Amino acid sequence: MTTSPESPAGIRTGAGERHLLLDPGMDLTLRPMRYPRFFDRFKDAIKNTWSVEEVDLHSDLADLAKLSPAEQHLVSRLVAFFATGDTIVANNLVLNLYQHVNSPEGRLYLSRQLFEEAVHVQFYLNLLDTYVPDEKERFEAFAAVENIPSIARKAEFCFRWIDSVFELRELRTRDDRRAFLLNLICFAACIEGLFFYGAFAYVYFLRSRGLLHGLASGTNWVFRDESMHMAFAFDVVDTVRAEEPDLFDAEMEQQVKDMLAEAVECEVQFAADLLDQGVSGMSLAQMREYLQHVADRRLAMLGIEPMYGSGNPFAFMELQDVQELSNFFERRVSAYQVGVTGSVSFDDDF
Ligand SMILES: [Fe+2]
Ligand SMILES: [Fe+2]
Repeated sequence: MTTSPESPAGIRTGAGERHLLLDPGMDLTLRPMRYPRFFDRFKDAIKNTWSVEEVDLHSDLADLAKLSPAEQHLVSRLVAFFATGDTIVANNLVLNLYQHVNSPEGRLYLSRQLFEEAVHVQFYLNLLDTYVPDEKERFEAFAAVENIPSIARKAEFCFRWIDSVFELRELRTRDDRRAFLLNLICFAACIEGLFFYGAFAYVYFLRSRGLLHGLASGTNWVFRDESMHMAFAFDVVDTVRAEEPDLFDAEMEQQVKDMLAEAVECEVQFAADLLDQGVSGMSLAQMREYLQHVADRRLAMLGIEPMYGSGNPFAFMELQDVQELSNFFERRVSAYQVGVTGSVSFDDDF
């Protein structure tokens, strides 16, 4: 715990003491609760609890055997991305987000998110163990962040943004706070909101062709979690914007656009790698358009004008299952049992 004249021992415990969300410290006061929305998000996340054991990936093995070589290549690259993606997100949460979002109810949500990222890591570990029985191939998949250029580039993007604020122990200055906001926006909009959404599109594309329903059913859970992680992060951004509007200016907006444009390029390069053997029913041009469409939606969530004006070329990503939507917060496990092929509910905002 750091000490400064403004915050002795870095701790704020007085119930009447007011501070801003990004002011340094470890606020411990849950009553009166300053950000009840964050607490509501924590409770909503708990209603979406699931376990890896509920998803039977073995049902996919027969499908894997009948994939074309081009589709097999796509799946092997996809699982290689999944091998480390959530661990990177979890690391940023621990190293950066938890430290600087100074609200105990906000930290409750982040604790819950960390648990969910751990479940995702376990899910993808299970996926690789099931899909890639050959030990040497599996080692290669886990080393993809170093060995497969299209995945290494995405990892480098993530690590650069983790490092950008890693040395910051306290957000004292305007520049510190803007740097932190860019890190937060990067992980929500570019990594969870674009890299992962891009990956989900391949899963739902395969499901639309009648393939890999086990993976799709697990992805439905991960998808919901990621949507909520993103929504929380944007809620933090909105809260900071209300408290410190001067942090958000044209320069910041341009930095967000530049960051998203780079993320789109990283993801297009990944798509070029996945699709380079010619996957019937999905082209690189379509994937680029889809990624640009998603990037524009992220900008909209941040109150920034769209950059691309691209539409969504993938009808299978727009499927809405009213039944699942209505059950979303009721924890009807039966709707998600293996073999059920109902589509995930896609909130328009995402
Ligand atoms: Fe995750
Ligand atoms: Fe996440």
